[in-house]
Amino acid sequence: MPSTQFVIKEKYRYQNGFNSYHESEAIEGALPIGTNSPQKPPYGLYAEKLSGTAFTAPRHENQQSWLYRILPASNHSPFEPRESSSSKTDQEPSAQEKFFQIPNQLRWDPFDMDDTVDWVNSLHLVAGAGDPVMKTGLGVFIFAAGKDMDSHEAFYSADGDFLIVLQHGVLDIQTELGRLLVRPNEICVIPRGIRYRVTLPSGPVRGYILELYQGHFTLPELGPIGSNCLANARDFQAPTAFFDEDTSSSWTLLSKFAGRLFAAKQNHTPFDVVAWHGLYYPYKYDLGRFNTIGSISFDHPDPSIFTVLTAQSDHPGTAVADFVIFPPRWLVGEDTFRPPWYHRNTMSEFMGLIGGQYDAKEGGGFQPAGASLHNVMSAHGPDASTHEKASNAELKPVKVGEGSMAFMFESALMVGVTEWGLKQCAKVQADYSEHSWGALKPHFKRPSN
Ligand SMILES: [Fe+2]
Repeated sequence: MPSTQFVIKEKYRYQNGFNSYHESEAIEGALPIGTNSPQKPPYGLYAEKLSGTAFTAPRHENQQSWLYRILPASNHSPFEPRESSSSKTDQEPSAQEKFFQIPNQLRWDPFDMDDTVDWVNSLHLVAGAGDPVMKTGLGVFIFAAGKDMDSHEAFYSADGDFLIVLQHGVLDIQTELGRLLVRPNEICVIPRGIRYRVTLPSGPVRGYILELYQGHFTLPELGPIGSNCLANARDFQAPTAFFDEDTSSSWTLLSKFAGRLFAAKQNHTPFDVVAWHGLYYPYKYDLGRFNTIGSISFDHPDPSIFTVLTAQSDHPGTAVADFVIFPPRWLVGEDTFRPPWYHRNTMSEFMGLIGGQYDAKEGGGFQPAGASLHNVMSAHGPDASTHEKASNAELKPVKVGEGSMAFMFESALMVGVTEWGLKQCAKVQADYSEHSWGALKPHFKRPSN
């Protein structure tokens, strides 16, 4: 299907295009023409620049936006550390030694729903590498929330870009730059620093987040594929300007800064941007629109063919983070072992499942809202029953993954697991390795002369 048939209907309007220069005004004439910072911006608004890259970043990487708002973002009280009544972000290690680096293959049972917390308090760091202080690496979070954020609360992360992979429920996200409705099978990216508030119109939510501490996501190069396919640029949706007018009530601004949570007060809404233009904005994408490529002869290509978004390291072709999906697709390869091959990679692979059954793991242990981690050089591949089945299957064209969507956060970095991820969540499957590969039998026979 060229798009997901959503149960919940869309209610907002968007501007289409990845890394496109967008502009939007909630009141006609609110954007100054030609100039960015006129002596008196239209309608008495303040002009404010939001930079997502260094001013001097090369043009093809440069991401900045101009916001025209009722009051500048700087108008708030000093931040105070928010002693975590319930904030799980405070568990984020600020030093690498707090990660457990282990070579075992890991798999988690589905993470629990939790309807007692809101978005901010739902974030559990499960794995990661690097450090937001040095703007290196990434964090992987599990979220499970059941409450709207307070009606006068906004949140931002100074640490990185949130790539949110929703598994259950619906997110209604009011950002400074406009509103996004995110439903299962849609992902969204909220760049570093953008303030937002999350409400839950369909009740409890659950999912995964990759926080990218360095750079920003881009679309992968297409090489010989040509100018279309995989995720097409036109299918990424950015919000249109939307503002509230409130300069008299008390608001709390929450900041995730170096893995810690801080709070400040202000007496006006943060959602007062009447117009904006630029290249730095949140966006969403329907994974159902991904145009999947595969072999039409034999073997299958490397799974990089399923990359939706990538964040490159300083070495081109090597990603700090790739976001990869395994969508429903046809397998037609002749004389081919069709599931993923057995492999060990220099990259680490954190996988999750939005829904359905992942075609490489049919034993039932990899479930929606669960996860697995195959770290640098940790060996893995199909479980014994999948191998047995695929080795003997009739090789007619088959559609796999119908109704399913598995995904992977792949990284060149060695990904460590937090105390919460390894112990406190109590979801790690002790028998994963034995269950998957313990039953593999040797089939080797020496040739007889
Ligand atoms: Fe793998």
